[in-house]
Amino acid sequence: MDLQDPLKDMREEYLFPQQNGKPFIYLCGNSLGLQPKVAKEVLGKQLDNWQNLAVEGWFEGNEPWMFYHKELKRLMAPIVGASGDEVCPMNTLTVNLHLLMVSFYRPTKERFKIIMEAGAFPSDQYAIESQVRFHGFDPKDAIIEVAPKEGEYTLKTEDIVAAIAANGAEIALVLFGGINYFTGQLFDMKTITKAGHQVGAKVGFDLAHAAGNVPLHLHDWDVDFACWCSYKYQNAGPGGISGIFVHQKHFSDQSLHRFAGWWGYQEKNRFLMEKGFVPETGADGWQVSCTQVMPMALYHASLQLFEKVGFMEPLRKKSKILTEYLFFIVDEVNKALGFEQFKIITPRNQDERGAQVSIIAKKDGKKIFDHLVKNNVLGDWREPNVIRLSAVPMYNNFEDVFSTGELLLAVSKSVNND
Ligand SMILES: Cc1ncc(COP(=O)(O)O)c(C=O)c1O
Repeated sequence: MDLQDPLKDMREEYLFPQQNGKPFIYLCGNSLGLQPKVAKEVLGKQLDNWQNLAVEGWFEGNEPWMFYHKELKRLMAPIVGASGDEVCPMNTLTVNLHLLMVSFYRPTKERFKIIMEAGAFPSDQYAIESQVRFHGFDPKDAIIEVAPKEGEYTLKTEDIVAAIAANGAEIALVLFGGINYFTGQLFDMKTITKAGHQVGAKVGFDLAHAAGNVPLHLHDWDVDFACWCSYKYQNAGPGGISGIFVHQKHFSDQSLHRFAGWWGYQEKNRFLMEKGFVPETGADGWQVSCTQVMPMALYHASLQLFEKVGFMEPLRKKSKILTEYLFFIVDEVNKALGFEQFKIITPRNQDERGAQVSIIAKKDGKKIFDHLVKNNVLGDWREPNVIRLSAVPMYNNFEDVFSTGELLLAVSKSVNND
């Protein structure tokens, strides 16, 4: 499979962390993607511009910082299925969730509820709670969490749709993750968006685990807004810049509130420094502070590699098979042990998951995880009991998955003999 893989050379474009003189099998792109080799050069160019041009770098040089984000917009758009003017790199993810809720969570006495997935990433829970309180509501009344059925780990689309319909007239906002960070479940964003709109709510997504992992069609799905981080599947470095999406249909809505700053002001008149905020058209109008050139340079470096492979379709094609293989390998380990040591909680259906596979060990999960790391396999551990492994199509191969299986088996045997 590795020999036949059209993306097989892409792993050469990335730097793998090492331990005891050996590269890790890196299965942790769901948390922090690897550094593209070209990152130093692209970042170095901007450091040179800073050195050589200093303040003039904003308007001079090959890539004036004033317009630097435009090249990123061009490259981000195909990753999330949007037009360039619907996306913009800015800030960090939770900050953008807040800024977008300022615009798209406008509760009234009758319609004030937010519907979300139970077990969403904590930052989303805290952001939503605090937004609800900010508007004078009690999270206990205003937040509806859709939870899996007793004994299950993942949600059924029909249960999400039913929860939206059941609370229809009270829902102001449907805010879901694109993929749940814990289970790796990919939600049916098109159907959720339609259900939200049917009851008159706005619909947004946190795409931290979906952007760069699975193809997205935010514009066509009619999603109102979304945001994501760039440091997971998009390999833009720790704390990397976030991206936002605002659907074109909202561009002319003058009634939308926003927390404004000078960088969201109409670009052509920004430096007239006049009183009275006039937003730039499109997602750019949500910018607050000036362009963060260095984190953007890292995102730029990484996005060039997405362009090189033809963006999401080729990646997804490989990802489906590679992750299927990871499922197979875990099943084989269980078979060889003669009992279900590893329970997979990620949906097996390819349309309901991306690259991440979440596994619960029957016993000694943390011990097994620590053994994996000691033996050069790096996934991650999420409390209380989950090992997350992601075979990322950009830089992982089938041999990585096979070797991980061998180690899982060996470690399980030794743990069970302890
Ligand atoms: C789903 C999700 N939302 C939000 C965040 C928080 O992102 P940030 O710290 O960049 O605001 C994360 C971080 O991993 C995440 O996985």
